[in-house]
Parts: sequence; structure tokens; C-alpha cells
Amino acid sequence: RIVYLNGDYLPEEEAKISVFDRGFVMGDAVYEVTSVLGGKVLEFEGHMARLERSMNELEMHCDLTRDEWLAIHRELIARNGIDEGLVYLQVSRGNAGDRDFHYPPEGTPPTVVLYTQAKPNLADDPKAKVGIKVISLPDLRWHRRDIKTVQLLYPSMAKMAAEKAGKNDAWFVEGGYVTEGSSNNVYIVKGNKIVTRHLSEDILHGITRASLLKYAAEAQMEIEERPFTIEEAQGADEAFFTSASAFVMPVVEIDGVTLGAGSPGPVAARLREIYLDESR
Ligand code: PDD
Repeated sequence: RIVYLNGDYLPEEEAKISVFDRGFVMGDAVYEVTSVLGGKVLEFEGHMARLERSMNELEMHCDLTRDEWLAIHRELIARNGIDEGLVYLQVSRGNAGDRDFHYPPEGTPPTVVLYTQAKPNLADDPKAKVGIKVISLPDLRWHRRDIKTVQLLYPSMAKMAAEKAGKNDAWFVEGGYVTEGSSNNVYIVKGNKIVTRHLSEDILHGITRASLLKYAAEAQMEIEERPFTIEEAQGADEAFFTSASAFVMPVVEIDGVTLGAGSPGPVAARLREIYLDESR
């Protein structure tokens, strides 16, 4: 595989980063994941806008323009022959020497890494046909979840706990209400109405979420942006989540309680179809 590191396209084994890099030592890095369908990056502008916002919030700087970012994405997709898959992008604050809590001096170059992952069945994911099962866990992450940092230890722990329980993923709960999934935004469906938590610093502002809500409104669905509890979700007609790598994914069980018939509902299935049609 050919990866991108600070201006160079290299075989993955030749891409080397300093042991002092703050991304490695401090988790001082932000990232984006975009999907590729038919060799084309989806939602490029949205992901770039969020990347710029994450960097601004952390006073991180990177000189690449959007055109340059797009050229790197295209080059990697071409060089690796990706038809369906993902592009992972990470910018860390780099390093200027020994470990230090303070940021390095202004002008210290960031470390920019991008690589592709081939996923031949991304759009045709068999999980979308059966739905996934989730457990709930307390949301123990930090309180700036709107910044997409690489500090993903708790989401990793949550996915391991879900796997150990024989389920697929975890939904986080704080103050009695669901915040989001371990790596996705979550929704419940009641009749023709979609309920999803409002945007704040408590959740990541999903790029898939923004587009999906727009398409749902265009399809005359009612949208309510407010918090909901696990109990309300368990009593809903349907539930689903969204992310760049899963698009729209039906949820059929929450904490051992089966939703509806226990198979993906019509609203989630329709929204998945609409999302894939519109975003390709
Ligand atoms: N995760 N919430 C969290 C905590 C996330 O990590 C993600 C994405 C989302 C969905 O955002 P978007 O629609 O922009 O992908 C919500 C990515 C896919 C990941 O970490 O792999």
C-alpha cells in the first residue's frame, strides 16, 4: 500500500514518524474518515470543513489548501486502486524535541498522514440487512466531543465491552440521555418522525448526520432534534446510526430489548437507500 506522509507518497513500511510526535505521546492530533464509492470520495467538503474547525479549536495549523487535500485523496485512491473503501486522514501537532505539555513553538510543522483502506462491500454491507445490536454504557469521554481527536481509548474499550457481551456496538449515556454511539450518531424513529440529539459540545457533529437530516426533510419526514433516553429508544418503532464508514445502519436491539420485529425497519432501509443515492 502507498501512504501519504508530509508531502511524500511512500510504501507503508517506509513511512516513519518521530517517537516524540505529539500525536503519539499526547494524543495531540485530529482526524477524518471519508468513504470512497466508485473511486470517488463522498462528502469531501463537509469533512474538510470539520477538519479545519477541529484544528482551529486546538490552535493547530496546517498549510494545505482544500485543492491540495483533494489532490492527495485522489492520488492515493488512484495509486492504491480503491473502488470502495475508506480514506483515513490525521494531522498531529508534530514535535519540536522532548516531551512537553506546552505546545511547540509556532511554525513547528504538523505531521500529516493519509492512507486508504479497501472495503469491497462498503455500500453492500450485509450488516445493514440484519441490523446491529447495541449495549449502553456511561459516556466517560472528555467534554469536547465536537472536536474529532484521535483520543479514542474509551470508544475502543466500549467496542470491546460490546463484543464481550456478544453485541456489535455501544451507545453512550450521560445524565440519563443518549449522547451518541461509540463512533456514530444515533437516531430513533416514531411513526414518520426521526428523533436525534441536537448539536452541542456533547457529540461529534457528524457529516453523514447533516446530509441525512437534509435528505429526510426533503423526503417530507419530520425531524426532532432533542435528547432521548434508552427506555424511549427501546420503545421506538426503529433505531439506526450514521457515520462516514457505515452510512445508515439499522439497530435492532438495545440492552437486550428487541425493537419492533427485530429486523431493520422500513424508515432506516429507505434512508440508507436515499443517502447512498444522493451522496455518490
Ligand atoms: N467516526 N460520533 C463519533 C463519536 C464518531 O467517531 C463518528 C465518526 C461519528 C459520525 O460522524 P461522520 O458522519 O462525520 O462520520 C459520530 C468515524 C467514522 C471513525 O472514527 O472511524
